[in-house]
Amino acid sequence: MDYLFAPMEGITGYVFRNAHHRHFHGIKAYYTPFISPNQTRKLTPRELNDVRPEHNEGVPVIPQILTNKADDFLWAAGRLKELGYTEVNLNLGCPSGTVVAKKRGSGFLEYPMELDEFLYQVCDGLSKMGMELSVKTRVGKEKSEEFEELLSIYNRYPLKNLIVHPRVQADYYKNHPHMEAFDLAVRDSKNPVFYNGDLFSAAEILQFERDYPGIPTVMLGRGLLTNPALAETEVSQITQENTAAAPHLTAERIRAFHEEVLEGYRQAIPGDKNVLFKMKELWTYLGEAFEDSAKPMKKIRKAQRMEEYRAAVESLLMEKQIRREPVFPGWNK
Ligand SMILES: Cc1cc2nc3c(=O)[nH]c(=O)nc-3n(C[C@H](O)[C@H](O)[C@H](O)COP(=O)(O)O)c2cc1C
Repeated sequence: MDYLFAPMEGITGYVFRNAHHRHFHGIKAYYTPFISPNQTRKLTPRELNDVRPEHNEGVPVIPQILTNKADDFLWAAGRLKELGYTEVNLNLGCPSGTVVAKKRGSGFLEYPMELDEFLYQVCDGLSKMGMELSVKTRVGKEKSEEFEELLSIYNRYPLKNLIVHPRVQADYYKNHPHMEAFDLAVRDSKNPVFYNGDLFSAAEILQFERDYPGIPTVMLGRGLLTNPALAETEVSQITQENTAAAPHLTAERIRAFHEEVLEGYRQAIPGDKNVLFKMKELWTYLGEAFEDSAKPMKKIRKAQRMEEYRAAVESLLMEKQIRREPVFPGWNK
């Protein structure tokens, strides 16, 4: 099984990606959080820093773009080409209210005719530039039945791949993936289909592989934040009963990874307060990897100064066991 690291805005920027790539293996490509181009024809400093080649040395990265304007998309793709990228990913999944209100992300799915025209222009422009397009999509705005029409649109274009997160915008991250819509993609897509959504453990990945033997690639998001070693899962070596070959996460590995993320943010972001804010967001996922972590996690959340924060992290790492199988608990339960 090939694994892709899902883009997660605010979390999987270049500092995080570099640290993850150094300390864990198994990721075929990391997708950047979305770049949002507009008329100013300028990447923001945050966007540019995230994709600069010198910030991504040796890390396989695919930049993601969020817009509904073909000329803005092509402008951003051109900038990314200058920086050395040959593939860009279109975000048709973001469910956030402000994005959707601007007809972007999963909000664009409600306008199939405009989406078709957009893809026509984008594919035409990219092929002239010698660049490839992949699409990350939800299966509709309100109902998964919308996916049939969306898929027929995607089928008109030569996509490198179609990454399907089979929720609709209205689901946000609640409910469960609409696997019947994913089945439709598996059956009818003319482009290679990859899966994304709610694969949080080696057992779930194994079950997915059994259910969909023809899908060689999955994109993992929150599962990798709780268990950064999840992509080390060798599906061929595990069975449902025996997960001994499941990835091995240790306190030492987390400590080394954490240290590099922390130092990376300290160099990149002014002010400990801002650094701590980002580290705490990471811990909302990573904290789930530990048994009985409520108390030390509270200390981490409450830490205002760097020394306090470091001490709280160290006491979690020293005092609490890593779960036998660290699994993101989901937002449904
Ligand atoms: C905090 C957060 C930020 C996200 N940011 C992005 C983003 O920038 N672009 C995108 O396509 N998806 C984004 N997503 C969605 C994830 O890429 C992924 O599709 C989603 O988490 C489902 O996969 P999972 O169940 O493996 O986590 C984000 C998700 C989360 C939780």
